[in-house]
Amino acid sequence: MIASLRAATAAPSIHNTQPWLFRVDGPRIEVLFDQRRHLTVIDPERRAMHLSVGAALLNLRVAILDRGRAVGVELLAGGEPGLAARVTVGASRPVDPATRELAGAISRRRTGRRPFPPRPVPDSILAECVAAALGEDALLVMVDPTAAYDVLELTRAAERQQLADPRCRAELAAWAATPPSPTDGVSAAAPAPRPEPATRQPRDLEPARARRTAGIEREPTIGVLYSRGDEPADWLRAGQALQHVLLTATARGVATSLMMQATEVPPLRAELAAKGEPHWAQAVIRLGYGRPAPRTPRRPLSEVLLPR
Ligand SMILES: Cc1cc2nc3c(=O)[nH]c(=O)nc-3n(C[C@H](O)[C@H](O)[C@H](O)COP(=O)(O)O)c2cc1C
Repeated sequence: MIASLRAATAAPSIHNTQPWLFRVDGPRIEVLFDQRRHLTVIDPERRAMHLSVGAALLNLRVAILDRGRAVGVELLAGGEPGLAARVTVGASRPVDPATRELAGAISRRRTGRRPFPPRPVPDSILAECVAAALGEDALLVMVDPTAAYDVLELTRAAERQQLADPRCRAELAAWAATPPSPTDGVSAAAPAPRPEPATRQPRDLEPARARRTAGIEREPTIGVLYSRGDEPADWLRAGQALQHVLLTATARGVATSLMMQATEVPPLRAELAAKGEPHWAQAVIRLGYGRPAPRTPRRPLSEVLLPR
């Protein structure tokens, strides 16, 4: 059980806020939101908080399966306040190779923010990522270069808006520049939590500008993750889908990072979703190859495990 909980805490979370708590009672684990870690300015609806807890939930599911036990999950968001899900550890069962691979990726996954070299991610791996999202009832749409340019423009616009707001800057600084403790936030080991994409569309290849901007690779591989609904339970599902995609990529040696800015500014988020799809944009994922990113800190289990 302890190892599975530790795996849960290895999940990505918005600005590494780790907004999760756990309560164990026999074979049942309650997964709760740590409301003290709510980013009230950047995430007023708590959507990113749900995505983060959803990612931890996926890790927990995979880790339990990898220990040869069945797992049941009941999503409770919107019900009892503070409670996200109830997880039940079930009977013994054989571990399939796919689970083993995902579980092995949990501790290797990192948010890789540096530019990736110009090495394409094979279609077969992208197809596996799309299937991973589908398996969690979400839709991962890999965008073509023109659409990638539009997504990056939205990202930049969102970032400009956010940084123009002093309250937003203060919240960012509180978790990125000067985290509240050594086990929190995006530490000096992993700077630049909000990458400024430097990508230029072929129609905008003015060399001086391109050289001046330090950012990500010129032609990034980008996928947008959509959910079917936009309620708290949908956000938890989307968080599980997000993490399933990230682990699938990691298992294949592909690095990932998240560029969530455009999903955080409602009018721009709506533009991300304007693809004729009855879906809600939840995450923007960048994939590629690169040196492993440094490990970010995590709170010890003693801080996230509540008494029965
Ligand atoms: C909902 C959510 C939003 C995030 N937004 C961003 C983002 O906009 N930019 C970024 O660089 N990383 C983003 N991250 C990644 C976190 O900063 C990262 O997961 C955290 O610092 C822990 O580091 P790790 O992923 O390497 O374990 C986000 C993660 C989550 C789950």
